[in-house]
Amino acid sequence: MVGNVIERIGNAERKYVEEMLASDFSNSRNPGMLGRFEKAFAEKIGVKYAIAHVNGTATLHSALFAAGVRAGDEVITTPLTMSSPALSILQADAVPVFADVVEDTLQIDPASIERSITPHTKAIMPIALYGLSPDMDAIMALAKKHNLVVIEDAAETFLSKYKGRMVGSIGHLSSFSLQATKHITAGEGGVVCTDSPEMADRVRKFSVLGYSTVSATVGKITKDDIQNPDFERHVQLGYNYRMPEICAAIALGQLEHAEELVQRRIDAANLFIEAIGECAWLLPQVTPGDCVNSYWALAVRLVHPTLAWADFRKKFMELGGDGVYAAWKLSYQEPMFREATRNFAGKEKILEATHEGGIPVYPDGLCPVAERVQKQVLAFKTNYWDWSRAEKQADILKHTIQYFS
Ligand SMILES: Cc1ncc(COP(=O)(O)O)c(C=O)c1O
Repeated sequence: MVGNVIERIGNAERKYVEEMLASDFSNSRNPGMLGRFEKAFAEKIGVKYAIAHVNGTATLHSALFAAGVRAGDEVITTPLTMSSPALSILQADAVPVFADVVEDTLQIDPASIERSITPHTKAIMPIALYGLSPDMDAIMALAKKHNLVVIEDAAETFLSKYKGRMVGSIGHLSSFSLQATKHITAGEGGVVCTDSPEMADRVRKFSVLGYSTVSATVGKITKDDIQNPDFERHVQLGYNYRMPEICAAIALGQLEHAEELVQRRIDAANLFIEAIGECAWLLPQVTPGDCVNSYWALAVRLVHPTLAWADFRKKFMELGGDGVYAAWKLSYQEPMFREATRNFAGKEKILEATHEGGIPVYPDGLCPVAERVQKQVLAFKTNYWDWSRAEKQADILKHTIQYFS
């Protein structure tokens, strides 16, 4: 019996926010939420460094910089995702190269990554889509062979496992999101993780305005430095991506009951998988036996010969279902990629000057498996804090399947 109602925002979050507010945001009475959160997050993931950011897109930008990605370099990622990975690669003046996916897991396909590697490839950005890790052993082996940096985009997962290892601790760098729909949230937020002190230092400087005295474990400049007229602050170009302390307070509280929040999503996903049962035309994302999927959402492929996605969703909702999300449009099929010369916000000039192939073009048919499965995906919500609602939704799902069977 899974039972009960759990609180998404618990007492710890309220206590830490109170502490923050009581400090009046004064520097001298600051309770140091950022540092406390970063330390606790690093421990939870099992990495040496965690650097908190404003969101899980800024994190990717910082990670790309720390990975040494520069103008005209190529970075391989998947097109089957919300498009922050592709956008961040462009923000870093680099070229997104799209590898295809594996049909049943929906994850980036290592064989397709290998085919996409060129002398200009600098990094691989695999994504733990819907909460499941990609095949990281194969990806790390390719990275080693071709001297590439791996940035795990773990925005859609938390505390999931790949062959016993924590997702987000396997690549050279990883990136998490704490946006409102994610496993743990601060309303908005993100974290970069790494074991490398050099990379951590680069992430910090890039994300805190290139300040000279911030480092892997130091997120702020001191009062003595700030007040010194001779203090030389900016040693490099940086962005202002630091997570606000008030968000760090909420996030610190979330970490204290993260296991419960994650387990609820796993339980809800399993309940829906049970409701789908032997249905031959609804195929849940396959989780390999050596992985733990944290199920940010339950992705299911609709492979019915005649039933359309929209009709399934309509009936599900008519029967009381909460609705289902489609997969995002493939990144390279978004309008900005179709008209790259106009819609890259000036980056097209940089790519023209620095990328050997000039401005990339992304024709239909580039990733045939991703193009096929993108049209099939139904993603069911798993964030049911009230278990009786999850049970009701599972029941409605069963009735929807019966209606069309
Ligand atoms: C795979 C992936 N990467 C990155 C992001 C970006 O995170 P954020 O919204 O915190 O910028 C998201 C979702 O929001 C995502 O799903």
